Amino acid sequence: GKTNPERDHNLPLLLGVMGDPIIQSKSPTMHTAALQASGLRGSYLPFHVKRGDLRQAILGIRALGFRGVNVTVPHKVEVMDYIDEIDEGARYIGAVNTIVNDGGLLKGYNTDGMGYIRSLKDEVVPDLAGRKVLVIGAGGAARGIIYALLQEQPGQVIVANRTESTAQKLAAEWAHLGNIKGCGLEQIESHLPGIDVLINTTSVGMYPRTAEMPIAPDYIPEGIVVSDLIYNPLQTELLRQAKQRGCTVHNGVGMFVYQGAYAFEYWTGQPAPIEAMKAAVLASLD
Ligand code: ATR
Repeated sequence: GKTNPERDHNLPLLLGVMGDPIIQSKSPTMHTAALQASGLRGSYLPFHVKRGDLRQAILGIRALGFRGVNVTVPHKVEVMDYIDEIDEGARYIGAVNTIVNDGGLLKGYNTDGMGYIRSLKDEVVPDLAGRKVLVIGAGGAARGIIYALLQEQPGQVIVANRTESTAQKLAAEWAHLGNIKGCGLEQIESHLPGIDVLINTTSVGMYPRTAEMPIAPDYIPEGIVVSDLIYNPLQTELLRQAKQRGCTVHNGVGMFVYQGAYAFEYWTGQPAPIEAMKAAVLASLD
């Protein structure tokens, strides 16, 4: 049933994030800083929601009058079954990370890929049109990024994945969205000529296995842009090696900040205070 047809503006803005685990999430710190910087009265809280409890937790958004929530691991796919509408991009990607409650109608979005691309453009590659981009990985994170990337009219997107068939399937599924090609990690070398941007979407190199790299260092072309979604550590071995090869590097902090910024803008209708959010995240790391 639809409750709370109009949000009572005398009440604080209620926001949060649902996941399992949730204790490590930096979202409450970041959004609390955002609310404060914007002068909005409200709260953004972490909710430890176990797999079997997701449906009830989503019903609680309406019953309690939450304006919205973020949804994180392991709920981003299952949550699509419990909401009323799904944005076109989120439907393509097959995952929702942000829910907006409009008078009891719950609409799902995916701001991860959009956030990543906005960060990449703001920080290192202002114009992706015509660029050749190599994406390593074809999982959930890669789908969000590749979908958002294809909206930028890149010249070509190569998706290289350990399990080649996953990359081939994704390339076939999204062939109508742009020039996209799948391959296995063994075939990366043949696709390196002309690459402008290399993006690691896998968890290879993440703490605590920080010595690992998703591709051999010799394969990193000199002077290109190399981006890693990982932000723990801030500088992965991939980015360290890329720097040594004269590349411009970009880490995963911006993606985290901008996915939150888009969510904040959907919930509040106001521009997100990006600098305050970034500062809060950086201060909370290590
Ligand atoms: P996420 O949501 O973080 O993308 P995921 O959907 O489980 O998580 O996807 C993980 C991605 O990292 C996949 O592309 C996976 O490759 P496979 O499809 O072959 O599993 C990739 N990946 C994970 N561990 C890897 C490793 N040790 N070496 C290479 N690729 C790896």
